Amino acid sequence: MRRDIALPAPPPAERHDWHTIKRLFPYLWQWRGRVLFALACLIGAKLANVSVPLVFKDIVDGFAPADPAKAILIAPLALIAAYGALRFGVSLFTELRELLFTRVTQRAVRTIALQVFEHLHALSLRFHLERQTGGLTRDIERGTRAIGTLISYTIFSVLPTIVEVALVLGILAARYEPSFVLIASGTLAVYITYTILLSNWRVHLRREVNELDSAANTRAIDSLLNYETVKYFNNEGWEKARYDQQMQKWENAQIRSQYSLSWLNLGQAGIIAVGVSLMMWRAAVGVANGTMTVGDIVLVNAFLIQLYIPLNFLGVLYREIRQSLTDIERMFALLGQNKEIQDAPDARPLEAGPCAVRFENVSFAYEARRPILHDVSFEIPAGRTLAVVGHSGSGKSTLARLLFRFYDVNGGAIRINGQDIRQLTQASLRARIGIVPQDTVLFNDTLKYNIRYGRPDASFEEVQEAARAAHLAEFIERLPDGYDTRVGERGLKLSGGEKQRVAIARTLLKNPPILIFDEATSALDSKTEKAIQAELEQAAIGRTALIIAHRLSTVMSADEILVLDGGKVVERGTHRALLERDGAYAHMWALQQQENDPPPGYVQ
Ligand SMILES: Nc1ncnc2c1ncn2[C@@H]1O[C@H](COP(=O)(O)OP(=O)(O)OP(=O)(O)O)[C@@H](O)[C@H]1O
Ligand SMILES: [Mg+2]
Repeated sequence: MRRDIALPAPPPAERHDWHTIKRLFPYLWQWRGRVLFALACLIGAKLANVSVPLVFKDIVDGFAPADPAKAILIAPLALIAAYGALRFGVSLFTELRELLFTRVTQRAVRTIALQVFEHLHALSLRFHLERQTGGLTRDIERGTRAIGTLISYTIFSVLPTIVEVALVLGILAARYEPSFVLIASGTLAVYITYTILLSNWRVHLRREVNELDSAANTRAIDSLLNYETVKYFNNEGWEKARYDQQMQKWENAQIRSQYSLSWLNLGQAGIIAVGVSLMMWRAAVGVANGTMTVGDIVLVNAFLIQLYIPLNFLGVLYREIRQSLTDIERMFALLGQNKEIQDAPDARPLEAGPCAVRFENVSFAYEARRPILHDVSFEIPAGRTLAVVGHSGSGKSTLARLLFRFYDVNGGAIRINGQDIRQLTQASLRARIGIVPQDTVLFNDTLKYNIRYGRPDASFEEVQEAARAAHLAEFIERLPDGYDTRVGERGLKLSGGEKQRVAIARTLLKNPPILIFDEATSALDSKTEKAIQAELEQAAIGRTALIIAHRLSTVMSADEILVLDGGKVVERGTHRALLERDGAYAHMWALQQQENDPPPGYVQ
């Protein structure tokens, strides 16, 4: 099972809910003027709403007065006008409240979404490699949607219902015998208790549905991202079965959830039916005894309907609110994720100028149980070039990731100009390093956008200049859409070599004092490679460069060459010195010479 590092096991729900509400509150209170005004509108709307049946009762009673002529002419006309005005008032106040509140809700959603997004970018590579993107985006999507739901349900539904229930109970108490208030409040109490008990039981069922939903989504996205691989191995059926396995669990969980919902709804309807019947019975008795008028029966009925409608939603409301709180909590849990790599409190920026890089006895493991680098030391003086060669998996790319501070070393230190990179701000460190990574992934946008990504404020001329240096310009200019050609999802519409050259172009555009080329030309044919090699050497002049390569012919001119084996430096020296040593490097060189013709200009 995948390790879910985002969520600790949820402690008792109640405490969490309060915690979530407390965290959300400041985002709303920022707009307190609007909030208070919207609440005033809410009370206005509810006052108008309970006045409607009152006026309506008077109209009904007006038809059976002592002096019919007077009543019909004056009272009902005024009352009917008031009735119309009140009805309109309800909508007016409701709409005003919505209008006022929309900005509050949407701004809160925007602010929080932005914070989560920023935080996710600040989290370590380790987090992103372990979490799956599908589940992550689902969490954010559900979390932001939940904020809207929570606010609109509490402020626009629960609060108005409470105000309304209070008003109605007040009027019933003031006007009629106590049994009405007793029945109404008794029914309410039973109803609310039942709803909460059952809904609490349902929460874990809903949580299960959500988790299975995320898991299915993760599986689908991962499968679609591997579209080509799936086809290479003809594994559509296998993928379908895996997805269906997850969907089947989801289906069963949904059905369990629906059963519980039906129980909830039926129980609620039963309680309300009993309450309403009791009240109508009391009203009928009142009319028969002559203590109540026909208008009163109309009034009680109207109040009951007015109470019944919002109460009918109470179960849904309660569930949705709990659900929203769970979703928001999950999103906030992302915010609570510790940033593994953080700027030290007293971190300084790396000053401009040439940079000397030093690895001092660096040891490192991605996972404690499996050390990758052992006591690696080397120095690249400012402006010099160091090459690292070695077998696949020996830890070469890891050196680049450590220098970039995607991870912190477990032992030793990495220094730039004598300063430990853990004491530098990450932003200033990364601004000084340009990397052409081993696998280039591009944004699904145009070539221009992807090259300019190296320095977003670069002019188009500079973009073209970088493309020329990366031997890409000719290719781009031949394309029907030129620089506006879209590169497809992750850049997959480009060939491996083209993608690699885009990566080179954007690094050249960034123009940093430290350069890392991780197999920067491995996807190119030897002719293009040689041409670009010259450009890269040109670019490396005056810069500190770390070059990682399999093809030894590309590192011959480095100032120093390091041979890495199983995370240890086994040999070091210049090309010539290493050949003379006749060790691992000389052996690798001899092997590669057998495969290729010797590079021109090389004399042994
Ligand atoms: N995120 C990770 N978590 C755990 N292990 C990892 C991780 N990344 C790399 N490794 C392991 O670390 C070792 C060194 O990886 P690295 O990418 O540095 O190799 P490399 O020398 O660049 O190899 P290649 O020449 O194939 O690119 C590998 O054995 C790899 O399995
Ligand atoms: Mg590598």
